[in-house]
Amino acid sequence: MKIAIIGLGFVGLSLTSVLSSKGYNVIGIDVDVKKCKKINNGIIPFYEPDLEKILRDGLKKKLRISDDFSLIKGCDLIFVTVGTPQDANGAIDLSIIKKAVSAVGKNIKKNNNKPIIFIKSTVIPGTMKKVIVPILEKESKRKVGKDFGLISNPEFLQESTAIRDTKFPHTVVLGGYETDFMKKAKKFFMKLYPKTPIIITNHQTAEMIKYANNSFLATKISFINQLSTICQNIPGANIDDIAKTIGLDPRIGKLFLQAGPGYGGSCLPKDMKALINFANISGIDPTLLNAVEKINTNQLEQIIAISKKKLGNLKSKRITILGTAFKPDTDDIRDSIAIKLIRKFLKHKAKITVHDPKAMKNTMEVFGDKIIYAKTVQDALSKSQCAVIMTQWKEYSKINNSMVKKMDKKIVIDSRRILADRDIDGDYQAIGIGNDKK
Ligand code: UGA
Repeated sequence: MKIAIIGLGFVGLSLTSVLSSKGYNVIGIDVDVKKCKKINNGIIPFYEPDLEKILRDGLKKKLRISDDFSLIKGCDLIFVTVGTPQDANGAIDLSIIKKAVSAVGKNIKKNNNKPIIFIKSTVIPGTMKKVIVPILEKESKRKVGKDFGLISNPEFLQESTAIRDTKFPHTVVLGGYETDFMKKAKKFFMKLYPKTPIIITNHQTAEMIKYANNSFLATKISFINQLSTICQNIPGANIDDIAKTIGLDPRIGKLFLQAGPGYGGSCLPKDMKALINFANISGIDPTLLNAVEKINTNQLEQIIAISKKKLGNLKSKRITILGTAFKPDTDDIRDSIAIKLIRKFLKHKAKITVHDPKAMKNTMEVFGDKIIYAKTVQDALSKSQCAVIMTQWKEYSKINNSMVKKMDKKIVIDSRRILADRDIDGDYQAIGIGNDKK
């Protein structure tokens, strides 16, 4: 059996690497020639724990990486894992996936076999039927359900645990018609993941499941963030103890209840916007989803408000941002709240120093010489008038009084509360913890 995977981002490269390391005959395809070269040399184009090792295992076996779409010919399973970013209005931008499926269509034209195409990219409900099927049938001159199979197969992996999630997903969703193609697909996944529940449904439900999943996670985060804001006005109240306790109720569950600066990354913000946009054009007022977004934006404003309260006018104030990655164990800064915070501080003409264990290169690409880049946490804190912890990297939880001593003013705003159980000298404020000293 030959498998093609189209689009070598987090999802595609993780799947390519895991399947090939298990001995499957895999071809990973991407339009970016430079990226393909790198991957072929066993180097991953972004930071993701364990991925490089698994990729190298695959490269020692049958894995091929190429920018040549004609290699799709003769493949039995074709996974489309390209990005579906948002356009300027927040709606989903389908231009990349349209190009990808059009290339797939052209290349399955002369296939003697009947391949199954899986769409893993996140797409708004109705996209399969209204956009993808017509392109595939037009370009291939073949019929879906007869000459090739088409299955919606949304992905739930998280960056920073992409390999674990690809090896052991909590579910597999297969959306489409109950044809022989569906039976074959089910068999493939049952062999790959013997213990994972497989949900078979139609295309539009599968498409909606992905948005339901991400918007529910965003809702959980905004819920706890809303409570954390309330807690800030209750001296001594601690949002982490509240989250830990309500998380013990099995109806609530403990995950995704960590209060913080708001959700960021390349998925939750984008998918929330796309779903809100989709609801609006369907004539439904997405009241709850709008509130979730509003709370998310407010978290950032709170950090600005606290820093203004502590520092007065921010002009020329030296502020240190600890962490620019949207979460730990990644170098990804796409839609990171820390990046938004830096932009706001720069508008106030503050002098910014940043530190991040992995995301410095990406941060430099955004800000160039507008900010200062510190190599160590100690350097970042030295002479600073206010430090804001934005990402819960482990090394930031080691910050101690001797490091804080080097600051010009000992003001620490801890948006992740990683130092909350320490006795940090100076003016320490953990977001979500009611402060007596206010
Ligand atoms: C998210 C989903 O969790 C995945 O299931 C999904 O497959 C993926 O999007 C996608 O659609 O591709 P990811 O973007 O990797 O995964 O990031 P998350 O781990 O969900 O974190 C998103 C943001 O929420 C981060 O900024 C994180 O700091 C924040 N967060 C998360 C909190 O503030 N509190 C929490 O309790 C959890």
